[in-house]
Amino acid sequence: MSPEPKVLNNNKIPRHIALIMDGNGRWARQRGEQRLFGHTKGVDAVREVLKAAKSFGVSFLTLYAFSTENWNRPKAEVDALMNLLVDSITNELPELQKQGVKLIVIGDIKGLPVKCQESLRSGMDTTKENKEITLVLALNYSAKWEITECVREISLKVAKKELLVNEITPALISSHLTTRDIPDPELLIRTSGEHRISNFLLWQLAYAEFYFTDTHWPDFGKEELKAAILSYQSRERRFGMVSEQL
Ligand code: IPE
Ligand code: IPE
Ligand code: MG
Repeated sequence: MSPEPKVLNNNKIPRHIALIMDGNGRWARQRGEQRLFGHTKGVDAVREVLKAAKSFGVSFLTLYAFSTENWNRPKAEVDALMNLLVDSITNELPELQKQGVKLIVIGDIKGLPVKCQESLRSGMDTTKENKEITLVLALNYSAKWEITECVREISLKVAKKELLVNEITPALISSHLTTRDIPDPELLIRTSGEHRISNFLLWQLAYAEFYFTDTHWPDFGKEELKAAILSYQSRERRFGMVSEQL
């Protein structure tokens, strides 16, 4: 077997990488610290990975930051995560602006505390003209929530006779999801050793390559991202065809 190449092929950089940032709590507990310490360190990892993704030429980085199921955590942890979100947006905004990062949010923003909604709206507004990379934060997000909303919206249009049933196509469904302006991810990364999707982007990941690492999120950085992209580049994406057709 030939050794894995160590240099990224710049012609095969995924346009969109989706990331399930997992393992903050375990990372902290292994160090005898509170889970919140792991979340705080996780913000440093976000900063580094965003910079690395931009340097590799990735156009969209989607980070799963808070799922609809995460409301079931102890209230103190949920409150701390919401405060961390507001503080991080406030602190990072000048740097996001400097780096040309456009911030967008997918998820049920209206279900977040008002303070979070305000800082997110201000972050999105400040960065809306930026073009270097789009940072998509999945907050109060779950794929089943998103697909349910999509079905409701399409059904309403059919009921109002704005849409015919046979006009419902995969492309039409895509255009009614929160990711309507974003290409589907080519690569999904999940840290911390869990091999599951946890209600993330079920529709959009239909043909994504999956990459799992045991590294906990606070330890994930530029080299880890590069390793994930190298793995992606070594794969043959057949989309149902056979090798000889590619
Ligand atoms: C990911 O780390 C962050 C969020 C889900 C908000 P976890 O908090 O899930 O950490 P583990 O999986 O318990 O270690
Ligand atoms: C998935 O991680 C959600 C986020 C990373 C925001 P979880 O830690 O909540 O997922 P499960 O509970 O292990 O599936
Ligand atoms: Mg977890």
